[in-house]
Amino acid sequence: MIRCENLEKTYGSVNVLSDFNLSLPRGAFCALVGPSGGGKTTLLNILGALDRPTAGRVVLDGTDLTACPEKALYRVRRDKVGFVFQLYHLIPALKAWENVLVPAVPWGSAGLKERAGSLLSMVGLAGKEDRRPGQLSGGEQQRVAVARALLLDPPIILADEPTGNLDRASGRKVMQLLRRLNQELGKTILVATHDPGVAGGCQSVIELGQ
Ligand SMILES: Nc1ncnc2c1ncn2[C@@H]1O[C@H](COP(=O)(O)OP(=O)(O)OP(=O)(O)O)[C@@H](O)[C@H]1O
Ligand SMILES: [Mg+2]
Repeated sequence: MIRCENLEKTYGSVNVLSDFNLSLPRGAFCALVGPSGGGKTTLLNILGALDRPTAGRVVLDGTDLTACPEKALYRVRRDKVGFVFQLYHLIPALKAWENVLVPAVPWGSAGLKERAGSLLSMVGLAGKEDRRPGQLSGGEQQRVAVARALLLDPPIILADEPTGNLDRASGRKVMQLLRRLNQELGKTILVATHDPGVAGGCQSVIELGQ
């Protein structure tokens, strides 16, 4: 589902990834660990078609990103990947259900309001659909962000320290949710984390930047 071959990423003279190889089958649930500055976010951005490698190949669900012209990458972002960020990145002025609809904004969200509601129920937020981010706890906001990542039903979820800002109990809830998405919906999930507990709960662990 996710394959990297001889991936390299440099920023000026700084070499962040070199000769990096990865092969994750469909349905994998994998942790990405390593020191701060080791390249976890860089790799997730490349896998999510938000950034390009300096060299090497990335193939996502059969699509070779490196061969994709810039204009075609939006389709990869729309169809293949859902992103969950450490700081949630919800829009403060929008209600929870409106935040969940954000990935559909460029294509039109008509008909998706009901789906937003059922995703919010799935992540345990039934009854809180009309709250704005400021009226939700950190863990609840992160679960809104997970619902948002699922809106367009991508086969891959990339999560960048999704529990990094949460207390232990909320973090555990978010990880339980990701595990369910993996086991019940077959999503392929890659989670960058500093938390050994989170990494230990995944099926496999990749270490970057030692
Ligand atoms: N746009 C950029 N320009 C220059 N250097 C960058 C840029 N983005 C990242 N870097 C550098 O690349 C390295 C890897 O950064 P990255 O954010 O991928 O690390 P990380 O493993 O996610 O770290 P953390 O655990 O702190 O989130 C760092 O040394 C960082 O300073
Ligand atoms: Mg990072």
